[in-house]
Amino acid sequence: MSKDEDAFIPHSNFPCGADGSGYYSDNTLCCYKLIYEAAPLVLDAIKLASVKPGSVFTIADYGCADGGTSMPLLYTCVQELRKIHGDDFSINVIYEDQPVNDFKSLFLRLQGFMPGPKSYLLNFPDVFVTTCGTNFYSQCFPPQTVNLAFSATAFHWLNIKPCDITGALDHTMITIPEEAEVSKKQAAKDWETILLNRAKELAPGSRMILVQLVIDKEGQRAGTTKGTRVSAHHMLSELWQGLVTDGLITQLPREEVNGLMDIILRSMQLVGHASATLSHKRRVAVLSKVNKAYADLDKDKFREAGNDLFSARRLESSEDEQVDILEARTENEFHNTTFAYYVRTENEFRKPFESKDSPVRKAGLSLISVETKVVLCPYKEKWLKNGGDPKEHAHWYIPAIRAWSNTTFASGLSDSRSSEEKERIVDELFQRYENEVAKCPEDHGLTLSMLTWSLEKRRGTPFMDAALLEYVPKLSEFN
Ligand SMILES: C[S@@+](CC[C@H](N)C(=O)[O-])C[C@H]1O[C@@H](n2cnc3c(N)ncnc32)[C@H](O)[C@@H]1O
Repeated sequence: MSKDEDAFIPHSNFPCGADGSGYYSDNTLCCYKLIYEAAPLVLDAIKLASVKPGSVFTIADYGCADGGTSMPLLYTCVQELRKIHGDDFSINVIYEDQPVNDFKSLFLRLQGFMPGPKSYLLNFPDVFVTTCGTNFYSQCFPPQTVNLAFSATAFHWLNIKPCDITGALDHTMITIPEEAEVSKKQAAKDWETILLNRAKELAPGSRMILVQLVIDKEGQRAGTTKGTRVSAHHMLSELWQGLVTDGLITQLPREEVNGLMDIILRSMQLVGHASATLSHKRRVAVLSKVNKAYADLDKDKFREAGNDLFSARRLESSEDEQVDILEARTENEFHNTTFAYYVRTENEFRKPFESKDSPVRKAGLSLISVETKVVLCPYKEKWLKNGGDPKEHAHWYIPAIRAWSNTTFASGLSDSRSSEEKERIVDELFQRYENEVAKCPEDHGLTLSMLTWSLEKRRGTPFMDAALLEYVPKLSEFN
């Protein structure tokens, strides 16, 4: 793994619930449905796979969480591999996720110590399970060792958060063009990085099947679809704003944030830390450095450093005022709450495959099929079919939202709060959401707009890597 300026630090999607509690898969019925949709593509890939006697067939599940949601699919994979290709080879299933992932629940499920889907590990011989706690923005496995790659609902999480979003929680509600621009750029860069790393890991001739969240042609996306009156993302935003109104969390007015940025920027320029024409992205970077400088130092030390960074004479304001400004900035909790994900459109997904000279095509990946679908929310479907107690239903449904959003809210809160206080605030948010759902369950649901993909790694690429092709352009005709 190389250490560069974009080095990955786990963020945004830490497991919700205790390690080994199985919280994720017990509470995300939508994801089982989504993965089920990919089964035909995965089974096609298995039929077409070339499996040699005595070899090892490796399946990788990227961004697996606690592994329960893909267990039925992986059971079918193992079953089909044995049925079609016989018994004379080993099967290695590798689960990949962030180092902070709940791998404990995965093993408890696979070994049958926790209720869940049936386990292929218990039911088939010569099957092995390993895990990889790296991150999918790096190469996770040795070159050309993966025979079937799979990932569901994970690649929308970005490598780094491109910026905090003004007045909203996620990129689909951005109102400031510079923020939209840096988010879009980060998402394009990250998608290419994901593909290039997978191209290294895939064995020639093997396939990668993906089920990913998408913004479809009608603008629908997970949680915000035509058939459901209340958008999950707007609801979260409104309720978080409600906590500001009730004085439970802080938010600075936009003018104040901008003014603050200008003061900090000016001071940085004065002391020669930044040029006069900083881009918005650079400004955000400068701001986070300032925040870090503040977080790392106690007040006396900060005042000392302030002599360098924030000269009172140059800023024409008192040192105390500057400290207040920085405190206020770190207390802008609504602004600091930003989902570090980007839901791409189909065109954005397709972009790296458009030109035959693109790095992704040169690395040997080609597109076999792409399909966009809307998958109805199983929680809402059950309510519409069976009805029941609205409070019970709401209590059952809300963890499906909390499983992927909890960390973003907790990490937006000021570090001056204790972790218990942060937890109480986030509990309050989801209790309010639960109360809203209980008022009218049919208005809520997590219907998902998704894209299934089948990609293939070209055979023969090992001998014709991108660098060689550049020097010997004619080779590309054979590749
Ligand atoms: C919504 S869950 C999807 C889990 C499972 N694949 C499913 O479909 O039910 C997204 C997962 O992606 C993981 N993830 C996010 N960023 C990641 C990264 N850079 N590397 C590896 N995993 C990541 C999260 O930790 C989380 O477990």
